[in-house]
Amino acid sequence: MTIMDSNRSAAEQESDEVVQLNPVFVRPGEMTEVSRNAIPEHESLPETAYQVVHDDAMLDGNARLNLATFVGTWMDEHATKLYSETFDKNMIDKDEYPATAAIETRCWTMLAKLWNAPDADNALGASTVGSSEGCMLGGLALKRRWQHARRAVGKPTDRPNLVMSTAVQVCWEKFCNYWDVEPRYVPISMEHQVLDGHGLDEYVDENTIGVVAILGVTYTGMYEPVEQISAALDDIQKTKGLDIPIHVDGASGAFIAPFVQPDMAWDFRLPRVASISTSGHKYGLIYPGLGWVVWRDADALPDDLVFKVSYLGGDMPTFALNFSRPGAQVLLQYYMFLRLGMDGYRRVQQTSHDVAQFLAGEIGRMPQFTLWNDGADIPVFAWSMAEGYTDCWNLYHLSDRLRMKGWLVPAYPMPEDLDDVVVQRVVVRNGLSRDLAEKFLDDLKTEVAVLDAADRPLPTEGQSTGFHH
Ligand SMILES: Cc1ncc(COP(=O)(O)O)c(C=O)c1O
Repeated sequence: MTIMDSNRSAAEQESDEVVQLNPVFVRPGEMTEVSRNAIPEHESLPETAYQVVHDDAMLDGNARLNLATFVGTWMDEHATKLYSETFDKNMIDKDEYPATAAIETRCWTMLAKLWNAPDADNALGASTVGSSEGCMLGGLALKRRWQHARRAVGKPTDRPNLVMSTAVQVCWEKFCNYWDVEPRYVPISMEHQVLDGHGLDEYVDENTIGVVAILGVTYTGMYEPVEQISAALDDIQKTKGLDIPIHVDGASGAFIAPFVQPDMAWDFRLPRVASISTSGHKYGLIYPGLGWVVWRDADALPDDLVFKVSYLGGDMPTFALNFSRPGAQVLLQYYMFLRLGMDGYRRVQQTSHDVAQFLAGEIGRMPQFTLWNDGADIPVFAWSMAEGYTDCWNLYHLSDRLRMKGWLVPAYPMPEDLDDVVVQRVVVRNGLSRDLAEKFLDDLKTEVAVLDAADRPLPTEGQSTGFHH
């Protein structure tokens, strides 16, 4: 099966290879059907083509009720206006769009300051299409730094490894796979629910390019205690002489911690933190398609990874996996920084945080469930079935029933070594108001009561995990 085959629904693969056009909007003389998987032979009117795409896209879920995704789905009308005025800008064309290029630099400098870089004017940064690209760039810089240091002392560079928890997001598996780095996974357990520095010395060695610390684990929303991980690496340096840098994957948390937990040291306040990545399109409050990565200083980003593109008759350094990509999201991020300021971001993130803790408290009180965490880190929490509560239903059944009411709340197993624990997770984003949260809670309680009425085990065939990355 090819990737494309697997993306097509069974219905689409079986149906005729054509899409029937609705007779109400087909104009006289126009075709009444179009090929599904081949570019049509003839033109259609823009209104007709628009209607076909619009109607297909309508089948997508209601983003407002999607409690599975971290990604922003709403911005105000000024943002929408700005977006529609700037969607033609190409981020890489710094020469044609010098103002956008300057705004990109302003944005990551603001982030360097937000994340307490000791000298933000000497930090380096880049916008990316999301955290995944930010993590790839952070990982590549770690690898290149390690290679330089090894070559300088005549040591081999053929077996780099990266140390991280088994609960990392899939982008880190991709990084290791694509760039030939051995992944070393530290298992999480009931005692160590996140990577916390415990037993780290068994995983690192002279070939370790770095340790990934996640600020807001995708599975549960919990913070990995970066300060504690850093202290464990300090001890390792004392005993083994290994100086191992940290990349903080702050996909969600790097836009939460500075506003909700400002006193927590997880960022460039820790000298061992070499780089930090985040998603502008998550708690940065921007539409999909934006991430950021910032390096503490020039030493953290080897110069031989940086390319030069022309800019106002000179050169501008860039480090990115893509060449052309939209610049509009970068402008949207700048808009949000200006629009909300520190106070506004604090208010928005605190509101999501309060809603998460309210929901977690209510769900935690239900006898059916045991909370895994309570939303005190990023506004995300997960729960599992209370041990021994019932044999009749499970969280996959509940997820299905909630879907019937429009709510997307995935259930899935925890990572390796804890994969017998199934959790269900809610991501609270801006837009899940207290009022909407109460409606969700009512629906959840109703559906739990329906399941509780089952007097024999419900079928479990075909149960599958929901989207949770
Ligand atoms: C911890 C973590 N890292 C990386 C990513 C990948 O982010 P993106 O979707 O912006 O590429 C995610 C996405 O959920 C995440 O939770």
